[in-house]
Amino acid sequence: MSAILERRSVRNFLPKAVETEKIEHILRAGFEAPSAHNRRPWEFLVVTKREDLDAIAGMSPYSKMCTEAAAAIAVCVDLNAGAPKNPDDIWWVQDLSAVTENILLQIVDEGLGGVWLGWYPDKSRVAALSARFKLPSHIVPFSVIALGYPAKKPQSANRFDSKKVHYGVYGQQ
Ligand SMILES: Cc1cc2nc3c(=O)[nH]c(=O)nc-3n(C[C@H](O)[C@H](O)[C@H](O)COP(=O)(O)O)c2cc1C
Repeated sequence: MSAILERRSVRNFLPKAVETEKIEHILRAGFEAPSAHNRRPWEFLVVTKREDLDAIAGMSPYSKMCTEAAAAIAVCVDLNAGAPKNPDDIWWVQDLSAVTENILLQIVDEGLGGVWLGWYPDKSRVAALSARFKLPSHIVPFSVIALGYPAKKPQSANRFDSKKVHYGVYGQQ
């Protein structure tokens, strides 16, 4: 529970590179996510070049922190694996959400900070990232996680709210 409670979005970073070993641990955490039918329909794009991070910062009105981030990981769906028979089969959205959260929690365990950037289903963000990084059409970026050494430790807060919990039937607390 400690990484869960400690995790908060971090959007300011120190100008310090993240060790390759830490990136590998973070990716390993992503690969351990649960997935519908155990399809594991994910692929990862790891970006560490300054000019590429600056380009990602310009692809969304909410990704400016990438100019400070040491790295970004685009969590992508492989549609051939995630929706093999029917494009309406979108269980992969849940699979990739689980991957993204696993990654955010491992980032905390590595002493780093990160933030989930919504990418899919915004068409312009998906198109911009796919074009710059030459993603084939069946590989679609779902989320981007900007990460690095945090400029300051984020404040954790207890968000438990018993009013939103119902026992047995709705309305019963
Ligand atoms: C699907 C999704 C998309 C998000 N997109 C962005 C984003 O584009 N830019 C950003 O700065 N934060 C983004 N966030 C982070 C949220 O703003 C953040 O999680 C929320 O404000 C709660 O704060 P916390 O992460 O510190 O608990 C996103 C979070 C989720 C789950």
